[in-house]
Amino acid sequence: MSTETEQPATPFEQIGGGERVRAVVEAFYDLMETDPAYAPLRAIHAPDLTPMRASLAGFLTGWLGGPRDWFAERPGVCMMSLHRAMPIDAELSRQWTDAMGRALDQVGVEPEMAQALREVFGRMSTNMTTR
Ligand code: HEM
Repeated sequence: MSTETEQPATPFEQIGGGERVRAVVEAFYDLMETDPAYAPLRAIHAPDLTPMRASLAGFLTGWLGGPRDWFAERPGVCMMSLHRAMPIDAELSRQWTDAMGRALDQVGVEPEMAQALREVFGRMSTNMTTR
């Protein structure tokens, strides 16, 4: 069998698919809801995080190279613009990246992939700082 036409595995596949991406997102919001270190970050979110759990999982699934339903449902949406109206300072940006880094570790995402994601999320979060 020729391997020439095979596509390289997407980060979505390397992480282990939708179930694992959802597990990361659940761990992320669980940390945000329970660890007082993230109280300021929790405070700028809506009281019910259920819609956010679904939305972030959907975004990450498409962004990592998996099914793109989230993007299809939101034509032309820009993640950076979406955060522009939010009161995000350097500390909130750091809290987001920190909680996500811990979530990746908790779920057992392979260390090299987890580190690469930590760096990208760190850059994204820094660029989302609005004040
Ligand atoms: C810089 C730190 C960040 C802060 C403080 C932050 C905060 C927020 C807040 C307050 C919301 C609205 C939540 C609500 O309505 O309850 C939101 C939405 C969202 N954020 Fe962030 N965010 C950050 C970084 C990120 C990053 C890096 C990503 C992607 C990797 C991301 C993905 C999303 C998504 C997908 C939504 C939901 C959009 C929607 O369904 O309308 N955020 N964020």
